[in-house]
Amino acid sequence: MDQQKEKKRLVAQTALSYLKEGMSLGVGTGSTVDFFIDALPEHSHYLAAIVSSSEASTKKLKNLKIEVTDLNRVSDVDVYVDGADEATKHLNLIKGGGGALTREKILAGASRRFICIVDDTKIVDVLGKFPIPVEVIPMAQSYVARQIVKAGGQPILREKFVSDNGNQILDVHNLAVTDPVKLEIELNQIPGVVTVGIFARRKADILLISEKNDVITLD
Ligand code: 5RP
Repeated sequence: MDQQKEKKRLVAQTALSYLKEGMSLGVGTGSTVDFFIDALPEHSHYLAAIVSSSEASTKKLKNLKIEVTDLNRVSDVDVYVDGADEATKHLNLIKGGGGALTREKILAGASRRFICIVDDTKIVDVLGKFPIPVEVIPMAQSYVARQIVKAGGQPILREKFVSDNGNQILDVHNLAVTDPVKLEIELNQIPGVVTVGIFARRKADILLISEKNDVITLD
């Protein structure tokens, strides 16, 4: 396994230690979370419920014969485990590289504890080198793009992509995220925006970062 994959496997493995009997679990989306899902069959039997953040993760869970529960049937999610595209040491994140940001933000909001799992290549001082994914209602795509240009960003429509919610994604380049909460709120207020991939208002509670051979915990 190459070094990057090994880091993803290691950090996903570490997140398993946060699972306790009777907990409800939210499962994120992406290649790091895929390693977490691969290890879940040994743990799912003692969990009360498992909720998924995307059709892709649901499919993977079901293939492993793990039952997936609708969020509406779970009062609260005890622990939510998900990856990120960028993370700061203040636990602010950019998410949505895989396009699952809306359901991911719902699960992050509904969870008591959000554990974010990344490898050290994702750590930045200031968010924004990774383009910020913004999920938009299709009819508002051009309007939202123009508003983002006025705000100084460069939106690029994600080609041939439809989200699990039937929406489109604009990947916004060149916006330095010096105040993540402010920018998240501002972009969210543009009519037609469904979800902004900045996770700062509800950031991670615990950030697990895998380096070469070990995992650092920030909380
Ligand atoms: C999907 C996400 C993922 O968490 C993010 O893209 C990280 O993915 P990976 O673990 O494959 O690097 O936000 O919408």
